[in-house]
Amino acid sequence: MRVCSSAMDTEFTLITGASSGLGLEMSRLLAAEGRNLMILARREERLAEIAEELSASGAGEVRSFAVDLSDTKALEAFLASIARDELKIGTLINNAGFGLRGSFAELGCEDQLRCIDLNIRALTRLTHAVLPGMRVRGRGAILNVASTAAFQAGPGMAVYYASKAYVLSFTEALAQELRGQGIHVTCLCPGPTDTEFAQVAGMADSPLFRSGAMDATLVSRQGLRALQRGQVIHLPGMRNKTLAFLLRFTPRSWVRSLVARLQ
Ligand SMILES: NC(=O)c1ccc[n+]([C@@H]2O[C@H](COP(=O)([O-])OP(=O)(O)OC[C@H]3O[C@@H](n4cnc5c(N)ncnc54)[C@H](OP(=O)(O)O)[C@@H]3O)[C@@H](O)[C@H]2O)c1
Repeated sequence: MRVCSSAMDTEFTLITGASSGLGLEMSRLLAAEGRNLMILARREERLAEIAEELSASGAGEVRSFAVDLSDTKALEAFLASIARDELKIGTLINNAGFGLRGSFAELGCEDQLRCIDLNIRALTRLTHAVLPGMRVRGRGAILNVASTAAFQAGPGMAVYYASKAYVLSFTEALAQELRGQGIHVTCLCPGPTDTEFAQVAGMADSPLFRSGAMDATLVSRQGLRALQRGQVIHLPGMRNKTLAFLLRFTPRSWVRSLVARLQ
């Protein structure tokens, strides 16, 4: 989405989780449009290399931020720093997220709470922080990355699936609340996609991922296009669309046991 006016040229697109996968691909696509970018993730060196690549490929100003978004204090310090520097965020891409494969009782509690802090808390906090500026300017765009996991319970990955159900529900509600205010709000719901996600989650060998993963650039392009069009929910790929549609007519007890097998 290219925004054209001199006022908008001072605005940034903030992309969380920009050091790999979908966040990196979206950053590359937006850099090619000449956008000013704020890229955020934990791995500082990798972000610095990516910032150089993005600048060389046509981005406007690129700023990188090494922040652990699951750390409340770090998140607040980041928000305070952008307020102090009076950086305007015209587009927010809440993409950073991770999942953990395993049974809820056996996985560590702290790790699962970190998943909630990142996938839910940080996404909510960032959204709340950027909205006042967007509302004053009467324009803005927010892309929240959920998952096809948002549409059903996920035995074997219970907290991750529940966190993505929150992202979908929250984003839909927000889109409705902001209708007519010039702010586009979109929820991108990818299925298995070729990024570092499966490795981090410990599920690269799961039947779900072995059955095929989508290309990260393709998913990213579709997500950005959906945001540009103001589409509230976007499922990339025919397989994901079909599965989400069929879920509506399938008893939840069947779906639960199918997901348990796929994980
Ligand atoms: N790939 C899939 O199959 C798939 C399917 C459905 C939905 N999704 C969703 O897509 C989004 C992007 O994931 P991906 O597939 O691109 O996976 P990925 O390649 O693992 O990327 C995740 C990104 O999030 C960042 N991140 C992780 N923890 C963070 C933290 N505490 N603070 C700040 N940044 C953090 C990572 O960077 P650092 O490690 O440098 O912090 C990385 O840049 C996630 O929300 C995921 O749930 C993925």
